Amino acid sequence: MSDLSIPPLAELRKRRSAKWRTFPDDVLPLPVAEMDFPLAHPVAEALREAVDRSDTGYAAPTGDLADAVSGYARRAWDWAIDPGQVRTVADVGIGMVEILRRVVGPGDRVVVSPPVYEPFAWWIGEVGAQVVEAPLAGGPGAWRLDLDALERAFAGHATAYLLCNPHNPVGLVHRREDLVALAELADRYGVHVLSDEIHAPLVLPGATFVPFLSVSAEARRWGFSFLSASKGWNLAGLKAAAVVTADPAPKRYVDRLSPHSLYRTGHLGVIATVAAFTEGGPWLAGVVAALDRNRTLLGELLAQSLPGARYGRPEAGFLAWIDFRALGWGDDPAARILTAARVALNSGHRYGPTGTGFARLNFGCAPETLTEAITRIAASPLRPPPRAGPRHAGDPPDHPRRATARTPTAPIWSPGARRESSTTYAPERHITGWQPLPTASPAEERASGHRRGEFPARRRGRSQRRTGHRVCGPDAEAL
Ligand SMILES: Cc1ncc(COP(=O)(O)O)c(C=O)c1O
Repeated sequence: MSDLSIPPLAELRKRRSAKWRTFPDDVLPLPVAEMDFPLAHPVAEALREAVDRSDTGYAAPTGDLADAVSGYARRAWDWAIDPGQVRTVADVGIGMVEILRRVVGPGDRVVVSPPVYEPFAWWIGEVGAQVVEAPLAGGPGAWRLDLDALERAFAGHATAYLLCNPHNPVGLVHRREDLVALAELADRYGVHVLSDEIHAPLVLPGATFVPFLSVSAEARRWGFSFLSASKGWNLAGLKAAAVVTADPAPKRYVDRLSPHSLYRTGHLGVIATVAAFTEGGPWLAGVVAALDRNRTLLGELLAQSLPGARYGRPEAGFLAWIDFRALGWGDDPAARILTAARVALNSGHRYGPTGTGFARLNFGCAPETLTEAITRIAASPLRPPPRAGPRHAGDPPDHPRRATARTPTAPIWSPGARRESSTTYAPERHITGWQPLPTASPAEERASGHRRGEFPARRRGRSQRRTGHRVCGPDAEAL
């Protein structure tokens, strides 16, 4: 069994990754989807050996990754993948975008089920398509795909659907019957289903991951699966993932990917991924057990210290989706928590309009860190946001009631949404040089040939720069 002891915070802060360089040292960073566990021993060994050999060239055109992925899928999920239908890509995001480029055209409608991983909207914007929302049904502890909403969206001339399976941020592991029904809808309306299965290795006790392509012939006819070791084994910076198909129809699109895509993949990523999928099982089992304990601990901590917060135990992964609305902390509790408690979470509205008042917390950390985070939040001087209202006799001049009514936080991916508030609020307060992201100007939009709203979460324009020793893109917190 690998050693899963998480180093103390002072050691973790020496990491140079996004999670550890986005915030000042007094902030507990619980947003970016990286875990704090030490690397799996077989992965670390494989990487060390490669470095010792100075083996840092291009990824080789071999079937190593395809064999490792298909071997893992068979052992873990009893899913037979044909290694001949596995294509190596640099990461899941690039795989999704490159397949989207081939299945949709500019202005096409691509469906997502918010609250969902924010970059889904970016990827759709990147290929010039439009986001159409078919929100999840239910709520904390009872999320499900809303098949009626999906049918309405598909019937409205959708071209593709981005499935998140398991679903970030709510931790839902989709039910087989829902996936079967989704595949039937996809077949009826001719909708491509891109199934992001990056969190699948981290399904927690009590749930069973069902690969979308395994559920039916319809799913195989319309589906693409995107797999990676990057979440399960914490390899996101190494850049290797796989696009999997199980039918000649979707494979034709994959075959149109650039032959260069392999060489855009990290060679060390392939080496680490092969080690993870072939030898990383015992480490993963330990991590899953630790995450299982942490999700229980989080529930206990919230119940004790923040009883108004609602949290449904996630069925997979290391992300918790917490409903703070009853606490009166406004549309963007993450922003207020950061200021008052020095704990960084992800702002819920960035996952779509239904995320307003929620925040996402990463519990892939030591239990002590989790405990400290919730303790800090509970002890912090958080207050309901000032409400606009008439001035009462005797109010001091700066009384909160005099504040002008706040504009509700615009959902980041709604047409013409301005990017404001939320976690963008976080680092710029503390790091000089940060600039808010520009939204596309009307002139830019004319030049691009797309209407406002067709790039729902547009991130074009000036690059973001920060001065000082902390350097990171503005959207690290969206990862
Ligand atoms: C659902 C989901 N898809 C994709 C990604 C990003 O994957 P990659 O770094 O391989 O693009 C993440 C990262 O957190 C994620 O949660």
